[in-house]
Amino acid sequence: MTETPLLKVRNVNKRYGEGCPKCAAPDMLGEENRCAYCGSVWACRNVIFDLYEGEILGIVGESGSGKSTLVKSLYFDDSITSGTASISSYKEGTADIFSVSPQQKRYIRNYLMGMVYQNPWLGLKMSFSSGGNIAEKLIASGTYHVGTIRERASALLEHVEIPVARMDELPKNFSGGMQQRVQISKALANNPPILLLDEVTTGLDLSVQAKVLDLIRSIQRELRVAMIVVSHDLGVIRMLADRTMVMKSGKVVEQGLTDQILEDPQHEYTQLLVHSLL
Ligand SMILES: Nc1ncnc2c1ncn2[C@@H]1O[C@H](COP(=O)(O)OP(=O)(O)O)[C@@H](O)[C@H]1O
Ligand SMILES: [Mg+2]
Ligand SMILES: [Zn+2]
Repeated sequence: MTETPLLKVRNVNKRYGEGCPKCAAPDMLGEENRCAYCGSVWACRNVIFDLYEGEILGIVGESGSGKSTLVKSLYFDDSITSGTASISSYKEGTADIFSVSPQQKRYIRNYLMGMVYQNPWLGLKMSFSSGGNIAEKLIASGTYHVGTIRERASALLEHVEIPVARMDELPKNFSGGMQQRVQISKALANNPPILLLDEVTTGLDLSVQAKVLDLIRSIQRELRVAMIVVSHDLGVIRMLADRTMVMKSGKVVEQGLTDQILEDPQHEYTQLLVHSLL
């Protein structure tokens, strides 16, 4: 770990819905993040964290706690209501990535980030071959030479243990575990310093899940890419994350070293999560 964070996220707030005088600010709602008057939801409330080079940061919390909203915002799939974030390797960390132009956001997405979604249909074009999906990401990040693309796509598929012979097949004909592998290889195609993974093993059979988790760990060791791993499953977090952030109703209620959080959870909600795991 270096001193300067790779990614700095500050005071991120996201409201779904128009809001009303009763929920104009995120802290006007209490434990609940849904406004009882207008039904708007503050999905993220004052989220602050750092991600360091080469580490895996886990984000855990029950369904609806705001985890996906947070990573989707970082990947610009969703806009935030307020807050800032900076990446040390982008404009020397001086720019707020949420307020740059759409072209600059595209650049950040294509060159500095990778995203793996829970639902492979969001991360892959099912009408493109696996190789074609990887090619798309390579082209977006400035690789145009057909030979190079094909070579890199084979290497990436090999890396995630998809037989290269299946490069021209459509991922929609693959099993769930294989689809996640293709998504991971696509997300890594541009060698991003930051990889976002949202519930990538949720819904997979346990044995398949274990293999995908192993793959993620080995990739992280080998490539030293910094990862944000989102899961409602503390088992996944325990296996992957160096540090963990616990979210509840849009707020970060606890963060620290994963081992410490698992051994000695401070927040009542984390204690519940941990005890239901054991
Ligand atoms: N597009 C949307 N429109 C309205 N509300 C949404 C939308 N997406 C998520 N929410 C709400 O925001 C909250 C956080 O959701 P989400 O980020 O998906 O949580 P998690 O990933 O932790 O399960 C939930 O209350 C959810 O219902
Ligand atoms: Mg989610
Ligand atoms: Zn309201």
